[in-house]
Amino acid sequence: MKKRLLIATGGGDCPGLNAVLRAIVKRAQSEPQWEILGSIDAFNGILLDPMRLVELTPKTVAGIHVQGGTILGTTNKGGPFNWPVQKADGSWETVDRSADFMERLRYQNINAVINIGGDGSQRISQGLFELGCPIIGVPKTIDNDLSDTDFTFGFQTAVDAATDALDKLVTTAASHHRVLILEVMGRYAGWIALHAAIAGGAEVCLIPEIEYDINKVMQAIERRVTSGKGFANIVIAEGAKPVAGSMSYSNNDQPGGMPIRLGGAGLRLSQELKDAGCPIEIRETILGHLQRGGRPNAFDRILASQFGVKAFEMVLAGQWGQMVSYRHPNIVSVPLRDAIKTYNLVDVDSDLVNTARGLGISLGD
Ligand code: F6P
Repeated sequence: MKKRLLIATGGGDCPGLNAVLRAIVKRAQSEPQWEILGSIDAFNGILLDPMRLVELTPKTVAGIHVQGGTILGTTNKGGPFNWPVQKADGSWETVDRSADFMERLRYQNINAVINIGGDGSQRISQGLFELGCPIIGVPKTIDNDLSDTDFTFGFQTAVDAATDALDKLVTTAASHHRVLILEVMGRYAGWIALHAAIAGGAEVCLIPEIEYDINKVMQAIERRVTSGKGFANIVIAEGAKPVAGSMSYSNNDQPGGMPIRLGGAGLRLSQELKDAGCPIEIRETILGHLQRGGRPNAFDRILASQFGVKAFEMVLAGQWGQMVSYRHPNIVSVPLRDAIKTYNLVDVDSDLVNTARGLGISLGD
């Protein structure tokens, strides 16, 4: 009887997911005893009735490494430990279906699981591993906030999108003598904002790791105005917050979803600057999901392919409870429990932050 490997893509989508799927299937071609299945929409494919599983073959994954999104679909809501159920009165509760999930894996004769996802998905992987699931994690997030890996795939493509946006905003800011604010993703970590600000040449970069003082931001703008430049570009991460303030968010509309749905950091900053008497006009751009969709760049295709090949080799070696990791120049494995312990945040004393400061970028402190 063939061995069965189940793959799921969970959490927010990310450029490079399809390249991982293709790499796993290609690597498995030399191990014909393995049959590869994909679970539709993260683990919903297992948890829904009827189950929604698809066979992944060399034919179904041919050429998909250049495509954005995930051919398996995904969700950042629910999951085996946090399954949303609507009650008779219309309200919602979440229930633990992990035992049911394990039973369904047994029913499908699944011998191994690869879960491709970010922090939330890898917490699910660790929880399932503790229940005895033969599972391996593959780290994914454009935010690059997963610990124990140098980079996650998707991040560099998101930085390209943010930098491209900033390049465009710089020219219109200069033409109109304005402050242009670009809000980028980054819930807890300011990696995208910082990389784009350096690559695109922003004057101000506000990240979740450094609370900003609006007076310091104003000073940076005033320096630009008095120096004769007359315009300024600001990159702000969605999770950035003012001194003693909080993240800008709207409540989740569904149970079992992310604990906080962010939004509004750029607009709030714009209002704060107006209130502080900003001497020139301000406009705001929210880049949003343009950072998450579309084709992965070459770096992310390569990293995702490396992760896929390594993940399948970890299956062959039975390295359950481990996550694939990039430790330049090697692809290694690390315990899932270590990877989910803390977020990979920007180190405020790092060379990267020093570079930003050295370039004259104000970090609002
Ligand atoms: O975690 C990745 C991420 O892109 C965050 O930066 C962002 O806050 C979130 O996903 C957005 O999720 P959604 O697609 O559900 O709005």
